[in-house]
Amino acid sequence: MSDQIHDRLLIIDFGSQVTQLIARRLREANVYCEIHPFNTVDDAFLQRFAPKAVILSGGPASVLDTGSPRAPQTVFELGVPVLGICYGQQVMMEQLGGKVEGGHHREFGRAFVQPSGAHTANQIFRGLFTEGREEVWMSHGDRVTALAPGFEIIGTSPGSPMAIIADTERNFYAVQFHPEVHHTPSGRQMLQNFTRLAGFTGDWTMAAYREEAIRKIRDQVGDAKVICGLSGGVDSSVAAVLIHEAIGDQLTCVFVDHGLLRLNEADEVVTMFRDHYNIPLIHADEADLFLGELEGVSEPETKRKTIGRLFIDVFQKHANDIEGAAFLAQGTLYPDVIESVSFAGGPSVTIKSHHNVGGLPEKMGLKLVEPLRELFKDEVRALGRELGLPASFIGRHPFPGPGLAIRCPGEITREKLEILRKADAVFIDQIRKHGLYDEIWQAFVAILPVRTVGVMGDGRTYDFACALRAVTSVDGMTADYYPFSHEFLGETATRIVGEVNGINRVTYDITSKPPGTIEWE
Ligand code: XMP
Repeated sequence: MSDQIHDRLLIIDFGSQVTQLIARRLREANVYCEIHPFNTVDDAFLQRFAPKAVILSGGPASVLDTGSPRAPQTVFELGVPVLGICYGQQVMMEQLGGKVEGGHHREFGRAFVQPSGAHTANQIFRGLFTEGREEVWMSHGDRVTALAPGFEIIGTSPGSPMAIIADTERNFYAVQFHPEVHHTPSGRQMLQNFTRLAGFTGDWTMAAYREEAIRKIRDQVGDAKVICGLSGGVDSSVAAVLIHEAIGDQLTCVFVDHGLLRLNEADEVVTMFRDHYNIPLIHADEADLFLGELEGVSEPETKRKTIGRLFIDVFQKHANDIEGAAFLAQGTLYPDVIESVSFAGGPSVTIKSHHNVGGLPEKMGLKLVEPLRELFKDEVRALGRELGLPASFIGRHPFPGPGLAIRCPGEITREKLEILRKADAVFIDQIRKHGLYDEIWQAFVAILPVRTVGVMGDGRTYDFACALRAVTSVDGMTADYYPFSHEFLGETATRIVGEVNGINRVTYDITSKPPGTIEWE
């Protein structure tokens, strides 16, 4: 933490659903920030982290409840700007000598704020209120009723007389609304203004990150060898190229081909890494092993678990051949790292067991190198571009670890996989030809365990039916089906039935998530 060269902003998380959005907005303003749960931030942490500014997030608790979360008092003694958002505003008032009360009317949704008095010129309002008022998103029950010493009201809304308050001497600001959400259109500007008044210059760029990450990888790894499990996806590919740039041939990539990849996928990955990047690569062609063990398996969770188990075995087998390997590289991203703050507790229900290699490092006694731990997905793509990875590769749709197995409901056979690969390639070709690829989060074909009767030429056919799936999404958590034109769907169905032996019927899956999921299993 302490060896970073750029300035850092600390977000103390009180458990709001939208805390991650604060980080997103700040990163967009080229400010480096990290989210840490309130109960992990103590004085020693603050000293190590040395934030140039602090933001206190919203949260579901009420400061009036006994035992509700607080910020360490030291936060207010660091001499750096602090911004409190919603619950964060109330925490600030409570801890600095103001007053918060409940029982007022709850305020949810759209509101309009205006600067009060002569405060339009405050730095935090730069570029705002050009039309008199700004739309903001409110979501609170309690509210501040008495200001802490040193604070004054600098903005109000009809429902929140203390919508924006400040102690301009100490650069403490607090807002009742949520500047980080989409529904506060000028919130991004307000957050950026806060960082600029805190002295951030916007030095968080991918070029700077690349240099710094390379230096950190070299420091961490020294002369040791690193193994990287390559899936062909964007994250592990960017991690591999970055690490290779840092330590060259000390890196070996292992690409486990489970026989459940798309048409030509294995060739593309191997060619790119071995030939184009010159990265030592072990291509573990284990299709026979995986497909053998999956024979007769049709239950989705059994499929996933079988693949996950074999993947670890195979990876381990090949990794053992690499002498002196001490590190395992993973493309872990920031959203996987952020510890969520839970007040209610209790594990969530497992809908699908996602296959990953999480258990590997402990089993193999390897330490982890995770150079993307601080990045969001779109930042990983930007880093990939910075590293010169082809645009077509960086923009690829996500592909699940278990591959085509979960797009083949029922029993998996080589025949079905062959048909599925061809149909999928036609569908993606159609999408690319119509210029729709980048508008769609993910698109694929699922082959259904159903044969139907058709007529082709003068003959009867009895072949598989398939389903097209194409969705829009922001993060894969929720999704909508893509509204293709009927013309597009008709043309695609004609092409698939005409070009792919084994399919004589095409359907389009128009289920959203929820209640559906993106994959079929
Ligand atoms: P679902 O089907 O759960 O998928 O709506 C959400 C997103 O996750 C991908 N997915 C996986 N990715 N390993 C992965 O790496 C998995 O086991 C896995 N299962 C689903 C899916 O493709 C979609 O993008």
